Amino acid sequence: MRVAFTVNGERHEADVWEGESLLYVLRERLALPGSKNACEQGECGSCSVFLDGTLVCSCLVLGAQADGHEVVTVEGLASGDDLHPVQQAFVDAGAVQCGFCTPGLVVAAADLIERSPSPSDDEIREALSGNLCRCTGYQKIFDAVRAAASA
Ligand code: FES
Ligand code: FES
Repeated sequence: MRVAFTVNGERHEADVWEGESLLYVLRERLALPGSKNACEQGECGSCSVFLDGTLVCSCLVLGAQADGHEVVTVEGLASGDDLHPVQQAFVDAGAVQCGFCTPGLVVAAADLIERSPSPSDDEIREALSGNLCRCTGYQKIFDAVRAAASA
């Protein structure tokens, strides 16, 4: 089926199989590899995107369900060469090791700060509880989110 939707402010159309995920459509049909495929079953958060402003795991959303809707991926958070404050904070804090979890964490943290500009540590923990990182031990990720919020 043919779907048409907006991704990072640009209109896109794609031919998709009814059973393929939004994550697959973004990565394989629209050449947007920022959202990562780590588990493909809603467990790790590495595929997180905004769908009409709501944080979702794009591996759990069908590409067909995005028809007529608006998607923002980690690529869409930056403004040209200017990183989103959360992206910049992750770089500055050294919160990236292999980087596989990073796009999902950045999107989830951006969502948190949008909803709660000065989040408590418990709010940060809860907001990032759906995002798994195998490398960092989370401390630098927390530092980055705190820094982004105070920026
Ligand atoms: S790839 Fe979607 S939650 Fe892990
Ligand atoms: S930096 Fe490697 S999984 Fe998080």
